[in-house]
Amino acid sequence: MKIVQIGTGGWGKNHTRILSELGVLVAVCDVDFQKSKEYGEKYSVNHYEFLDELLSAEEFDGAFVVTPTSTHTDIAKKLLESKKHVFVEKPMTYKSEDGQNLVKLAEKNKVILTCGYIERFNPAVGVVKKMVKAKKYGDLVMLEFHRGNRMPLHIKDVGIIYDTSVHDIDTSNWLFDDMPQVVFARAGKIKHEHEDFASIMLGYKNDKVAIISSNWITPKKLRKFNAVCTDAIISSDFITQEITVEKDEESEIVQNEKQEPLLLEIQSFLGAIEGKNEHIVKSQEAVNVTKIAEAALLSSQKGIPIYLDLK
Ligand SMILES: NC(=O)c1ccc[n+]([C@@H]2O[C@H](COP(=O)([O-])OP(=O)(O)OC[C@H]3O[C@@H](n4cnc5c(N)ncnc54)[C@H](O)[C@@H]3O)[C@@H](O)[C@H]2O)c1
Repeated sequence: MKIVQIGTGGWGKNHTRILSELGVLVAVCDVDFQKSKEYGEKYSVNHYEFLDELLSAEEFDGAFVVTPTSTHTDIAKKLLESKKHVFVEKPMTYKSEDGQNLVKLAEKNKVILTCGYIERFNPAVGVVKKMVKAKKYGDLVMLEFHRGNRMPLHIKDVGIIYDTSVHDIDTSNWLFDDMPQVVFARAGKIKHEHEDFASIMLGYKNDKVAIISSNWITPKKLRKFNAVCTDAIISSDFITQEITVEKDEESEIVQNEKQEPLLLEIQSFLGAIEGKNEHIVKSQEAVNVTKIAEAALLSSQKGIPIYLDLK
């Protein structure tokens, strides 16, 4: 299998390392020539400044798009038009309408389109998903997510809802195995150009609810969630991958092997290209996350709940 990597910045350099270790990386491309040269030479693969050059020179099966969100649509469109399998980092596109068009294009050209909602591949989330599905602690009623960090200074094109809260929106849809019917949000900006704090409420059927709280104000890197079930509260940390179950006075620590989510995510995409029955984020699910992010932003601007009817 032959894979190329578009964008070798802060996050993309991790994909490049893993793809090289897996022996599938054949070329890298970054408009910052120094970066494409650095990673091309580091991993002994061809390097390009422009996607068009790469497309006319390389034969490959699939591509990773790890460039700023505002560039995803144009890059993914070209790759899909060339009948390549495409993995786009989150959020898939800035506008859900563009994402919907990419979904149609991938279907027309019979190629895979997926998106980097990495927490699905976080082993801790996997354990909680299994517990919820098996109703080990009764029915899942509420989810609470909390992320905090100083804003990564290189992000210029989106605020915290599109950059950060989207991870929890996707995890919430995944754990509830449902799409929200209503979104209500409050968001504002204290230190940055775009919104830098947000509280989002997602309402699912039967009064089930997720509360997503994200901020780029407080300095500590914090990524936690609680799954409130009818018989216990399951708490987990996306970073340490630890899980605690509070059932009664005693709390139980669940043993779980820590693994790199990005490796598991990349392996799933490669497996799907090979035709294996791997779990990947469906392109429509990724478009739905963008629709929910759009609704959250609109809700916070207008001060009203936004009702959705998602596929
Ligand atoms: N899944 C996650 O946990 C996670 C974490 C961080 C970032 N991301 C996502 O990854 C993407 C990239 O983020 P980042 O932090 O690496 O940004 P970055 O700015 O550090 O890197 C982006 C790179 O893309 C290059 N680039 C820009 N336009 C290009 C184009 N048209 N063609 C080729 N290269 C181009 C830039 O020169 C830069 O090197 C974003 O979509 C972000 O949301 C996901």
